Amino acid sequence: MTTVQTGLPEDIVGYIRECRGNVRSDSYLISVLQKIQNHFGYLSKESMDEVSDLLQVPSARVTGVATFYHFFSFIPKGQHKVTVCMGTACFVRGSGKVLDRLKELLGVKEGETTKDGKFSLESARCLGACALAPVMVVDGPV
Ligand code: FES
Repeated sequence: MTTVQTGLPEDIVGYIRECRGNVRSDSYLISVLQKIQNHFGYLSKESMDEVSDLLQVPSARVTGVATFYHFFSFIPKGQHKVTVCMGTACFVRGSGKVLDRLKELLGVKEGETTKDGKFSLESARCLGACALAPVMVVDGPV
């Protein structure tokens, strides 16, 4: 994919420029940040600064939006995302033990990525499949 001077991919820069032409350009912040996270796997400080410059929105506003929503990440994620459900149904059926074993096997804590960059370990509150408890999702839409 071609990049422009900003370091963001050209298609994202184009999208930001389209958004900037609108009256409330800051209302596009979430979709812009989602595009960046989908591309890079996380939001770097540099990317957020570029969004601030290109969208002409104060950097505090960009950071405020990015930190408000839990689905944005500020650290690089692994190739594979492992999510263990810690909701009530899963917890009473042993998801805590599953999570502990994964921590041991991967050598990371929740929210961390293995040193080789292959796996990120996360937990969630009810993945909507309680009847299958305990539930763990690998590379799913969580
Ligand atoms: S509590 Fe785990 S899927 Fe609902």
